[in-house]
Amino acid sequence: MMNILIINGSPNRENSTTLKLTTTFLDGMNETAEIVNTIDLHINPCRACYACWVRTSGRCIQKDDAIELLNKIKTADLVIWSVPLYAYSVPSHCKALMDRTVCFNQPEMYVGEDGISHHYGYENGSKQTVLISSGGLPDVAGNFDGLVFQIKHMFGKDTAAICCAEAALFLQPETQSLTSRYLEAVGKAGAEYKAAGTINADTQAVLDAPMIPREAYIQNTNAAFAQMKKCSESVLEDRQF
Ligand SMILES: Cc1cc2nc3c(=O)[nH]c(=O)nc-3n(C[C@H](O)[C@H](O)[C@H](O)COP(=O)(O)O)c2cc1C
Repeated sequence: MMNILIINGSPNRENSTTLKLTTTFLDGMNETAEIVNTIDLHINPCRACYACWVRTSGRCIQKDDAIELLNKIKTADLVIWSVPLYAYSVPSHCKALMDRTVCFNQPEMYVGEDGISHHYGYENGSKQTVLISSGGLPDVAGNFDGLVFQIKHMFGKDTAAICCAEAALFLQPETQSLTSRYLEAVGKAGAEYKAAGTINADTQAVLDAPMIPREAYIQNTNAAFAQMKKCSESVLEDRQF
């Protein structure tokens, strides 16, 4: 069995849509994992002291929950970043953790085969990384570009990525047939990743495609929000302040 760490960056914890995708991927791999909810941890921002680069050989000198988690990341065979898309990136508590992984790097730089300069360090290791994300907007292209770039450049360009657009469909029972089909592809991706360390192109194409056409999604989701607003207004009207 592999030592797999899931970093759940969703404030929705176990009710996270993204985590649903992640556990389906894990089932496809036929593996188990430790799940850490970053929202429940105390993770300070990086203080940019560079002690980890010049004094402590990679050890961060802060004393908070990030220290144990950084060690777990270091010793895992596979790290799955299970992160909802927030402002085209990750939720802020999760970004604090990502910044803190600077201690995995070394100050020395080189120009990689990708033509981009990097610090030596984490991405040169044998660790595998998978990104699984979901977003409420309908497009994969454009919407997830920043996040995919960020994760691949930080943790290795071989990172596999599942970016699920139109995630509001997971919150509606009426659209379950659509989301079940998507989840089926996620499970298949997990099995393929376990076997070959990569997701097959035809499965990736299903994962990158919208579940319904963009216009239909916008109409459906706008209507769902209008209904939610109406309900909360009537609840507020009934209340006495
Ligand atoms: C603060 C905030 C920022 C968000 N930013 C984006 C965004 O940039 N693009 C997008 O498609 N969805 C965005 N969303 C929607 C979430 O990504 C979406 O609801 C996601 O499926 C939630 O996943 P979870 O259930 O795993 O937390 C944002 C939501 C919040 C609360």
